[in-house]
Amino acid sequence: MNLQQNWAYTDTVKDHFMNPRNVLEDDQYKEDGYGIVGNIKCGDQMMVVIKVDKTKGIITDCKWKTYGCASAIASTSVMSELVRGMTLEEAYRISPKTITKELGELPEHKIHCSVLGDKALRAAINDYYSRNGMEDKIVKQEAHVVCKCMNVTDHEIEEAVLEGARTFLELQERTKMSTVCGQCKDEAEQLLHRYLNQHFGK
Ligand code: FES
Repeated sequence: MNLQQNWAYTDTVKDHFMNPRNVLEDDQYKEDGYGIVGNIKCGDQMMVVIKVDKTKGIITDCKWKTYGCASAIASTSVMSELVRGMTLEEAYRISPKTITKELGELPEHKIHCSVLGDKALRAAINDYYSRNGMEDKIVKQEAHVVCKCMNVTDHEIEEAVLEGARTFLELQERTKMSTVCGQCKDEAEQLLHRYLNQHFGK
């Protein structure tokens, strides 16, 4: 077997995986915001810490630590470089698409690993907002139940898309949604297209 042929990552991904930037190594790091998220299914966990110039509302430093895979490491490494110098609002809007573009693409089935970094970053920014009495800026991302029969939320649909569902049938297989009364089908299809477009530009 030719191992090189199966190595689906770009040189930038490999570089960030082999030489990750801004990994948190200092136990005494005095962060202004701290975020930790985990994907229980993958067993991944990601921590992101930020320092903020409080007068300008700009991120001056971003460090991270993960037990995640190569894709999670490479994408968070890139993200930590991208967000330095951004305003909190700009950094809040950074998406996996922006990060994977910077990396020169990831294998599709690994995209969901790359969302850990930006999720943890948003948690760190939210933490900064709560520490500084700015709770009104926190965007609440509560799940909304799309399929009432099978209790499937929009977050689960997004997760299924990130894990590989490309068609309505594949979405149905993964989530079991729309298998009873079928009333959720239209909304599910709209969400499927929205997430495909958002994460994969399709
Ligand atoms: S609401 Fe989804 S099957 Fe009934």
